[in-house]
Amino acid sequence: MNDGNIPEVSEFGSVDPAPPSNEKDVETLKQVLNDETERMFVRMRAVFALRNIGGKEAVEALCSGFSSASALLRHELAYVLGQMQDSRALPALNRRLEDLDEHVMVRHEAAEAMGAIGNRNSREILNRFLNDPSVEVAESCEVALDLLNHHQTINE
Ligand SMILES: [Fe+2]
Repeated sequence: MNDGNIPEVSEFGSVDPAPPSNEKDVETLKQVLNDETERMFVRMRAVFALRNIGGKEAVEALCSGFSSASALLRHELAYVLGQMQDSRALPALNRRLEDLDEHVMVRHEAAEAMGAIGNRNSREILNRFLNDPSVEVAESCEVALDLLNHHQTINE
């Protein structure tokens, strides 16, 4: 608890750019997240509420937001999917990294999320974009691969 002036630290240890919505219904949150007429602050509140709810339906709802017109929102989606460490997000994250027309900020965050999720199956795609013309994407793939290797080493 705090006095309302200090942003709350989430259970993920991050201070979110928008506090999670109080709404608990995944379908309602998904609609808010995908509402292109809604304010970005409100859409982000739906994103963080879905992250906190977690599970298959929440992951699917968040992944549905990748068709959003806002690169900022797509970037935020990749970030929270990394925080959730749920491998069910990997197909959608792979598509963001592979899409050369995607904004570099989103591709970079998709690669970092793969490192955070920690599934060794991500090695192939991360290696594939290790020499991406975008240095931010290439460096993110390198960091993600190092994180995967780091976790594998300490778990052996
Ligand atoms: Fe980022």
